[in-house]
Amino acid sequence: MSEGAGRGPVGTPADHEVEVPAELRAEIEEIISRYPQKRSASIPALFAVQRRYGWCTPEGIRQAAAVMGVSAPYLESVASFYDLFHLEPAGRHRILVCTNISCWMRGGDQLLDAFCEATGADREAAGHGGALSADGEIHVSGFECLGACDLAPMASIDERYYGPLEDADAAAVVDALRSGAEVLPDREMAKRPLAGGPDGDPDPRVAGSG
Ligand code: FES
Repeated sequence: MSEGAGRGPVGTPADHEVEVPAELRAEIEEIISRYPQKRSASIPALFAVQRRYGWCTPEGIRQAAAVMGVSAPYLESVASFYDLFHLEPAGRHRILVCTNISCWMRGGDQLLDAFCEATGADREAAGHGGALSADGEIHVSGFECLGACDLAPMASIDERYYGPLEDADAAAVVDALRSGAEVLPDREMAKRPLAGGPDGDPDPRVAGSG
């Protein structure tokens, strides 16, 4: 790849040419420090942009590119490859409902129906790439296996996994997102003991566990 004015690949915005919010800069710099190659930070840096602006805005991509010293078109190409990134407005919250085999067998389609009903998102569009709630705040999408089949039926809500979910949980999730309350703390995967959450009761089938 050709270099531009000694500052990186052509299309790389010079850091001083781009105004980058201090928190976003600090977050991306911390991400870069985890990797031997700065390009390896592309995906988490794009997530940082998406969290800040709600989607990967052209200016947000330019800001990340300036901090990383890579070209904006390169980062945009990464963002356009993965369907977890949005290159157009996609609300402040994201709900991905798994409708793949394990979740489908346990009611994943109905769970997607329930989230669409709770948000006002168009069900047909939600099942084919995603749809925004009536107020434009929540993006709902059916999704292929999210790799947490033991939680079936499950959903990813603002990048955190929850399950097993019941249809009636959809309205509670949407209320929590809109009010800023914690989403279903008893159903969050990260709070399970095996994921580092508080210890549960000892398994009575395991000798000496009691
Ligand atoms: S089938 Fe839903 S997480 Fe795997």
